[in-house]
Amino acid sequence: AKAPVRVAVTGAAGQISYSLLFRIAAGEMLGKDQPVILQLLEITPALEALKGVVMELEDCAFPLVQGFVQTDDPNVAFKDADYCLLVGARPRGPGMERKDLLEANAAIFSVQGKAINDNASRDVKVLVVGNPANTNALIAYRNAPDLKPGQFTAMTRLDHNRAIAQLAEKTGQHSTDVDGMIIWGNHSATQYPDVHHTTVDGRKALDLVDMDWLTSTFIPNVQQRGAAIIKARGLSSAASAANAAIEHMRDWALGTNGKIVSMGIHSDGSYGIAEGLIYSFPVTCENGQYSIVQGLDINDFSRDLMSKTEKELEEERAGVAHLLP
Ligand code: NAI
Repeated sequence: AKAPVRVAVTGAAGQISYSLLFRIAAGEMLGKDQPVILQLLEITPALEALKGVVMELEDCAFPLVQGFVQTDDPNVAFKDADYCLLVGARPRGPGMERKDLLEANAAIFSVQGKAINDNASRDVKVLVVGNPANTNALIAYRNAPDLKPGQFTAMTRLDHNRAIAQLAEKTGQHSTDVDGMIIWGNHSATQYPDVHHTTVDGRKALDLVDMDWLTSTFIPNVQQRGAAIIKARGLSSAASAANAAIEHMRDWALGTNGKIVSMGIHSDGSYGIAEGLIYSFPVTCENGQYSIVQGLDINDFSRDLMSKTEKELEEERAGVAHLLP
């Protein structure tokens, strides 16, 4: 039998985790043959609620679960962690400006980046889900000088999956027929869902839909899908976010078999995107590593939207620059 791996999850008593933890425990993230130890971090006032979640996890008697850690100390939660899913974040409160939100989260992700640096496995894979996810991941890696920036990623997989679902519906095909979807940039309303390299059942997406639908319906619908869920459900997307986190980590760890997925990753300057930003790129994964899909033709329409979302990320980085080491 395989040795257990340590999976740290923050915000473990929150809504996303209420779906996420049970799926990790069931083996849906790392495989049905991979035992796990769940290391769960919460803020002190939520430890009692976390206890209840752990009681429910115990009541599932999951065969793969080898133990639990429940703590409000990041140094304990990230100890020897192989995978870290940073879900907990400070939500926007009443009257809070974007700048206040960035700064409140900068405080959290500085501490957690340092705790990962000091305690986690040297091969740790980190996924930031908590918003603003891309900039939170940037803050975390900047506080982890002993690890590689490439070990820190941000989640745009939910946007990727939303875009696939929208295109499948429009073309009357199944989501599994859609190949080569790309989300560029920030996990925010400036993200650019790009179908220029996408096929549906082997046919070019651009031959199946017109530019008017793309610009007036598809792109804004994908960008605003989070807000639409909040409006309908009264709460932000949780199960679908957990599903995307599972897929992001599973693909990174176990590979995509050539399939293209979108991940917010440390920019190496590919496609002219400013180095060091956490920007969503098309990637494939193999042997526990992701690599950016290179050589795609970028037309003026795409370049303009890729630059807009890049600019927003540069502004976010400038907004927290005084807090970065
Ligand atoms: P939630 O509010 O239900 O749960 C968040 C949990 O994090 C709470 O239990 C809170 O106590 C905890 N927390 C706050 N600060 C913490 C800290 N410093 N350390 C440990 N735990 C801490 O929120 P939900 O719905 O689970 O969403 C979590 C985050 O994910 C939010 O920031 C949300 O905006 C983001 N999100 C990101 C998506 C993406 O696609 N990247 C999609 C959906 C949500």
